[in-house]
Amino acid sequence: MSPLRVPAAVSSMTGDIIDGRRVADEIRGELRGRLDRLRARGVNPGLTAILVGDNPGSQLYVKMKGKACEEMGMAHQTLEMPKDTSQEELLRVVHELNADPKVHGILVQQPLPLQISVDAAVRAVHPMKDVDCFHPENVGLVLIGSPRFAPATPAGVVELLVRSGNPPAGKDVVIAGRSNIVGKPLAALLMQKAKNANATVTVVHSATRDLAAHTRRADILVAAMGAPRTIRADMVKDGVVVIDVATNRIPDASKKSGYRTVGDVDFEAVREKARAITPVPGGVGPLTNALLLAHLVRAAQKQAMQKQATRLEGAEGASGADGATEGSAR
Ligand code: GUN
Repeated sequence: MSPLRVPAAVSSMTGDIIDGRRVADEIRGELRGRLDRLRARGVNPGLTAILVGDNPGSQLYVKMKGKACEEMGMAHQTLEMPKDTSQEELLRVVHELNADPKVHGILVQQPLPLQISVDAAVRAVHPMKDVDCFHPENVGLVLIGSPRFAPATPAGVVELLVRSGNPPAGKDVVIAGRSNIVGKPLAALLMQKAKNANATVTVVHSATRDLAAHTRRADILVAAMGAPRTIRADMVKDGVVVIDVATNRIPDASKKSGYRTVGDVDFEAVREKARAITPVPGGVGPLTNALLLAHLVRAAQKQAMQKQATRLEGAEGASGADGATEGSAR
């Protein structure tokens, strides 16, 4: 009798869904203790978002960030500026906020109107209040592996991987997309010789010759291109873990709004081959807001410590007992 033959590659995997809302709840829960301790010292973290113009996507993002602050009882305000705002006027407002001790975090929502340089706006925010982690000083700190803040969306991707039991260490991670907001900082985070990192990272982009040749090698694939449902099932290997960062609106006559939101991944087909996959919406999005809150708390803690150190220095200086005086007296 011939032995029972088992086909070598039956691909009947249906990947687990990585639930971003659950992970975000977990992170917010962990944040409450830190927040209570800060409040006991008289500090309530406050966020100011600046929205220039009337981009509907940006309006929605900023509203969600405000709502996230409210849910944790954190202070927030949104400054809405008209779309013809000059760069000079925007920078003047940012500089005022830099000097305001009640504002611990500032974010200038992107995209910005063409008359405003993104670079100028990003550099204007004080690095200690840059909860987006877009300022070149903070980007540099991420790259050398000593982040002051990690950018919220890439940090959210790392949290999703680790907390869903898919840590990136030793894995081939392919990131599709090289934006300053997601692709580049995520590559920097994942390649570090550090806990929750240590991956071998490839970044593919619009000039990559054979996209599928790279995506098929991925143990973990992160899609952040902004190209609706571009990653198909034939572009991934069995057992891949997929994180879809994108939120693309596509026309859908069955919806009251006339559109629906999809990611860069053909979710249903890719899920059949995946070990785990994030949905859109409900995957990365909730993490971005939870991590922004975590960075706001961190910013407030650092600013409170700095203020205390300055006060102590002042007191020591007044009593003539600072280190420099002692040293010079010896
Ligand atoms: N536009 C899209 N994502 C972001 C973000 O995380 N921060 C800011 N400031 N603008 C964005």
